[in-house]
Amino acid sequence: MNMQSIPIIASDVRERMSSAGDSSHDWWHVYRVWQTARRIASEENADAFVVELAALLHDIADWKFHDGDETVGPRVAGEILATHGVGTDVIAHVQEIIATISFKGAGVATPMRTIEGACVQDADRLDAIGAVGIARCFAYGGFKGRLLYDPDVSPETHADKDAYRKNNSHSINHFYEKLLLLKDRMNTETAKKIAIDRHGFMEAYLERFYKEWEGIK
Ligand code: NI
Repeated sequence: MNMQSIPIIASDVRERMSSAGDSSHDWWHVYRVWQTARRIASEENADAFVVELAALLHDIADWKFHDGDETVGPRVAGEILATHGVGTDVIAHVQEIIATISFKGAGVATPMRTIEGACVQDADRLDAIGAVGIARCFAYGGFKGRLLYDPDVSPETHADKDAYRKNNSHSINHFYEKLLLLKDRMNTETAKKIAIDRHGFMEAYLERFYKEWEGIK
């Protein structure tokens, strides 16, 4: 079992995700994370097979859509990889990455044990920032019925995972509670460089957003 099975597993994942979730956690999110993870993995000399599999399967059963049950993702991923004949060592590694990848609030550290995990976590976080990250933030806010912005409601940091999950303020606050924190959460040097560029784009976007909000621009 090797890299040749990647496109087959990718189409399997695409098929399974065709009706799943909202537009911020759909197949195309997985596609972008997959492509970015590949790029990071090659620059960081990580095991491309493990990185690509973990990227493809990292949101196969996102905990936000399964009432917080974090065991669903690794279990489903393991079942899929087994049907494609992937070896048990690789499956265990991929499952570990999926189990530890999620952002669970500003005060919660989620360290990755291996360079492969670091690449996938970085790619997932990079998809939450920059132009695509902005689009996903508002798409997810719409899915949750949130306001775009309310100048009277300030951002708050969440000390633990439950506080982060229960949070229901407007989408602009999500920039301060998560998106603008991600630049300093990258594991790899490759991702740090990409993050700085995407972070600058978000800052420029917010500056413009507030001006338009008050009719200044
Ligand atoms: Ni993801």
